[in-house]
Amino acid sequence: MDSAAPIWQQGAVRNHTGPAMLRRLHPEQPESFAFTPANQAWAEAQITKYPEGRQASAIIPLLWRAQEQEGWLTRPAIEHVADMLGLAHIRALEVATFYFMFQLAPVGSVAHVQICGTTSCMICGAEDLIAVCQDKIAPRAHQLSADGKFSWEEVECLGACANAPMAQIGKDYYEDLTTEKLAWILDEMAAGRVPTPGPQNGRYASEPAGGLTSLKDHEAGRDPLNASARLATDIGDTIKRIDGSEVPLLAPWGRQSGGDVALAERPAAAAKPAPKAEPKAEKKTAPAAAPEAVAVEEAAPEQLTAPRGGQADDLKRISGVGPKLEGLLNEMGFWHFDQIAAWTPAEVAWVDARLKFKGRIERDGWIAQARALADGA
Ligand code: FES
Repeated sequence: MDSAAPIWQQGAVRNHTGPAMLRRLHPEQPESFAFTPANQAWAEAQITKYPEGRQASAIIPLLWRAQEQEGWLTRPAIEHVADMLGLAHIRALEVATFYFMFQLAPVGSVAHVQICGTTSCMICGAEDLIAVCQDKIAPRAHQLSADGKFSWEEVECLGACANAPMAQIGKDYYEDLTTEKLAWILDEMAAGRVPTPGPQNGRYASEPAGGLTSLKDHEAGRDPLNASARLATDIGDTIKRIDGSEVPLLAPWGRQSGGDVALAERPAAAAKPAPKAEPKAEKKTAPAAAPEAVAVEEAAPEQLTAPRGGQADDLKRISGVGPKLEGLLNEMGFWHFDQIAAWTPAEVAWVDARLKFKGRIERDGWIAQARALADGA
């Protein structure tokens, strides 16, 4: 045992990663805890789900909300929840220290990375992913990175075994990971960007790696993202701390909790100003305009009728581009990384509109990825 390790990490140690199996409160605790007004209202609404005398049943959602707000469960937060429910503090402490989903030590301010280390993922490279975490975050599980932005741990099976190896980061799953992809995802998050969750090797969901062998008619016209990744992308709170302002905070039967604002009343996200498009000669007739209106002026990028030298780049190396999207890009006349790397914002808007997944190119950082790949990365 590393005697320099914090006391909460000293106990039964599991394999080389050394996460604490004895779950103790962190020795350094804040003075107090309070829910944000919106989270407080949400918590009070949760309590009303239960019949008189059974309010203690709300303990898990309330502890979870406290963790979503702070990143980890502090002793004052646990005691605050116990007080809200009329429980002895020890009762709430028992729950918080029993379930591994509750973090009892500070986590990274940007993200806490949970690497699945169970059978499928272990066979498919979880150990290598852990090595990335040890290299880029901290040598030991539950340690903060030097800049305080990240922490990591190894967890048990997260139920995405068909897409092993995988990690849960914040609320979402990143699947079919490689060491390079995980390192890239961490770099992106450190830079303030959140890569699209879901399979990272171009797979749509958990179909065979070589593509569908049956039910292939379902491929045509489907959303480029599977339903889970689409929902995660649309909600967009993957690694965000939850302060209660994200979504309508409704009690399960639909009553709005106090202090919340209905989704319809929320101001729309400010649209980015559209840069003036540079007129550009087209080498190929552009497809018909997409049916949706676009918020920025569009300009058609330079397109090719065939790959240069008959050799197309593997566009699937761009995260977020799978076989289906690669086919669409090729049909549109894009075959090479340098073509994508050269897109202006107006040209991105043009492609966005025609691929019908507005914002995806920017969200996944296609341009930066394509530029790096074009430069031989
Ligand atoms: S073994 Fe990793 S998700 Fe199941």
